[in-house]
Amino acid sequence: MDGPSGSGKSSVSRGAARALGLRYLDTGAMYRAMTWWMLQQGVDLTDPAAVAARCGEPAIVSGTDPDGPAIHVDGVDVAGPIRESDVTGAVSAVAAVPEVRARLVALQREIIGAGDIVVEGRDIGSVVWPDAAVKIYLTASPEARARRRSAEVAGSTVEAQQEAMARRDTLDSTRKTDPLSMAAGAIELDTTALTLDEVIAEVLRLVKE
Ligand code: C5P
Repeated sequence: MDGPSGSGKSSVSRGAARALGLRYLDTGAMYRAMTWWMLQQGVDLTDPAAVAARCGEPAIVSGTDPDGPAIHVDGVDVAGPIRESDVTGAVSAVAAVPEVRARLVALQREIIGAGDIVVEGRDIGSVVWPDAAVKIYLTASPEARARRRSAEVAGSTVEAQQEAMARRDTLDSTRKTDPLSMAAGAIELDTTALTLDEVIAEVLRLVKE
């Protein structure tokens, strides 16, 4: 399940995994966990060489339970801190570093290889697992995406979210390594006018087809 932020990936992926009795992996959380650790360590995130030199150090462990996706860095539970604005503002720069991607994609492939799973991200169908049985690319209008995200983040406005998302989308889709793009063979699903239950129902239909 690929797509930009606010397209509904997390809720849809978790709901579909639950309905299908499958595991679930949030790959964005892994990039966020790496970013959280870099910030803790005081690594200069404007220097890709510095990020590359340190990205092999943290032990990043992702849970796969759709009801409570856990993420730990060196044994510390970071599920809360990785959603803070400092991490959200810095993650695209860290995710653009090829060495970071190589390390996290290898970890993701290990988890995926262990058995059937719903995986959400930006490059799952194109890079991480091109042989996925079903590839879905979720989209929604920029306004709908910002509305959803601002409902999740206390004290934020739709306008501020739309601006922050546009910045992150540009960085994610123009980076040199594995940019956000629709994978070959992916089915595009526009969620703008659909409820969460309607999107999940459509995903289940595509899986069973
Ligand atoms: O999905 P989420 O918004 O949590 O992802 C955070 C960031 O992680 C994205 O903006 C993107 O820079 C990066 N990411 C990525 N590849 C993935 C998942 C996330 O580059 N498969």
